[in-house]
Amino acid sequence: MCGIFAYLNYLTPKSRLEVLDLLVTGLKRLEYRGYDSTGVAIDSPDSKNIVMVKRTGKVKVLEDAIKEHFSGGEYSEPVMTHIGIAHTRWATHGVPCERNSHPHRSDEGNGFVVVHNGIITNYNDVKTFLAKRGYEFESDTDTEVFAKLVHHLWKTHPTYSFRELVEQAILQVEGAFAIAVKSKHFPGECVASRRSSPLLVAIKTKSRLATDHIPILYGKDTDSGKPQEIRPHGQTRELPVLPRSDSTSEFMPEEKEVEYFFASDASAVIEHTNRVIYLEDDDVAAVRDGTLSIHRLKKSLDDPHAREITTLKMEIQQIMKGNYDYFMQKEIFEQPDSVVNTMRGRVRFDGNAIVLGGIKDYIPEIKRCRRLMLIGCGTSYHSAVATRQLLEELTELPVIVELASDFLDRNTPIFRDDVCFFISQSGETADTLMALRYCKQRGALIVGITNTVGSSICRESHCGVHINAGPEIGVASTKAYTSQFISLVMFALVMSEDRLSLQQRRLEILQALSNLADQIRKVLKLDSKVQELAKDLYQHKSLLIMGRGYNFATCLEGALKVKELTYMHSEGIMAGELKHGPLALVDDSMPVLMIVLRDPVYVKCMNALQQVTSRKGCPVIICEEGDEETKAFSSRHLEIPRTVDCLQGILTVIPMQLLSYHIAVLRGCDVDCPRNLAKSVTVE
Ligand code: M6R
Repeated sequence: MCGIFAYLNYLTPKSRLEVLDLLVTGLKRLEYRGYDSTGVAIDSPDSKNIVMVKRTGKVKVLEDAIKEHFSGGEYSEPVMTHIGIAHTRWATHGVPCERNSHPHRSDEGNGFVVVHNGIITNYNDVKTFLAKRGYEFESDTDTEVFAKLVHHLWKTHPTYSFRELVEQAILQVEGAFAIAVKSKHFPGECVASRRSSPLLVAIKTKSRLATDHIPILYGKDTDSGKPQEIRPHGQTRELPVLPRSDSTSEFMPEEKEVEYFFASDASAVIEHTNRVIYLEDDDVAAVRDGTLSIHRLKKSLDDPHAREITTLKMEIQQIMKGNYDYFMQKEIFEQPDSVVNTMRGRVRFDGNAIVLGGIKDYIPEIKRCRRLMLIGCGTSYHSAVATRQLLEELTELPVIVELASDFLDRNTPIFRDDVCFFISQSGETADTLMALRYCKQRGALIVGITNTVGSSICRESHCGVHINAGPEIGVASTKAYTSQFISLVMFALVMSEDRLSLQQRRLEILQALSNLADQIRKVLKLDSKVQELAKDLYQHKSLLIMGRGYNFATCLEGALKVKELTYMHSEGIMAGELKHGPLALVDDSMPVLMIVLRDPVYVKCMNALQQVTSRKGCPVIICEEGDEETKAFSSRHLEIPRTVDCLQGILTVIPMQLLSYHIAVLRGCDVDCPRNLAKSVTVE
């Protein structure tokens, strides 16, 4: 989804060219989120105007355009204080083109320029309101109304501060957004805010910060002007005047020199600083004279007094490709380490004990629940499908697995004694977050399973497990899947700790977990064999992936990987359903991949394999090492090491990740940023 990156230097001299360089690098770090156009805004050399450059396509295209546009020596002069804002746009309203790219401006004079992530759902009402007041629109976007609304408020409330203008505009808009605003009328200032879309502020100073939090200011700054509410069709209604702010405390670093970054996620700032504040919904962060304040218009009883300054644990190397060609490839090959990191400090193989610090206090409550609900989207949903059977076995509770979007569409009944797991790599997926809020309102216990510390799902859960897979940059989720899988397996093991009858089973699983990293390494050695298979398959139009039991999730996940990366049709088929329809697709020309392992459903899988081969199907088979009987059914097979049935899905999914990767490379697809997709889907 869209990416925001803004930079402000205060008393730290930087030329405009240096600022542009920082902005472009910031955008490059956000590229993985998915986008189709880009743009930047900085001050003109005389600081009296704002200059914008926008381009359709990749950040590289923008970078080249910037080099061409800002060649004059005046852009090399250092300036003490400057603000630049930048954006990668993932089209929602209006096709990808320069006209629709951000930043958007308030007027021909570029008085206010805005970058935005999310969707302003009532933009038509705001547009009508502004059109009636003479505003003309130059793009098809929802964002442009925000820039023009701020301008309108500035004209009608000349005494408002920059922050107040943005606050008043935010009061009028509905939907999801993260925004950063720059203005030529308020030089040296930047205002940013969020609602349901992620945004953080990062702080860079020369010495250590003397504080680990920033006080929050509540209320209005001045008594000036009566706020209005924009109603449907641009009608208005007066709003009650909010109380004045009762505090003047703000954040001012010890030394005066400071740099601030506003970004959609931490990967864009980590090379500059590891000190960040994750903004909450409706926080308005403003920098003026080098001082940062975080402001909220209304205070409710349980609102905190301060926002914490978090120290990021991430390292810059984690977001670089290293020796790999693509992030996805790197992330597939990181899995021997990422699965160990998921278990680190939690699983004690010598004592057969597991402690999940983030949920341990809630275990008694979870054990008393009516049912477990696992909710997610895409790959995260598949990790729920993959572990459902084990969860049912070890918890002896009903386990319901739900796609977040469908769950919301159905207004699913939720009870106070439900325990709802929200699984999300990014922790920001809009559907999953909405489903979380829906369940929370109905009194369920909320457990977050995420990979992103500080994400919305993380913060809004009662408790949770951080999967510790490390940053995942490729749009296709790989290592997050195997770590989500293991996190849910660990949870099942915790829940069965005191069940005597399950001890043997638990030991078997723990033993298998301890061997997992080595077995993944072994599976990764199949890479060149998988690449050869990819050469057979990449020119086909379709690939059917069949399996059942513990491996059905691999079929779904494998098919999703093939679709999103290669743009080929692919379907994950429950082998038990073959005779109910899909078998009609099978002939000697249809590519089929079957997962047939020596587990409790082996005989049934063999049955399916026979049905396929007797229709002249020639499947690629994923089977266990040395399983000659199964291998005899096809000349093309991938052998994986034996493990306990409930963990097989981790070993069978890796060949699928590799296969989709190689097919994508052979088809010339953009592996890390597949077309039309985004890493973090922050709109519904
Ligand atoms: O960040 P999340 O795990 O919530 O994302 C959910 C899906 O959008 C995501 O898994 C998507 O399906 C992946 N691109 C698949 O590789």
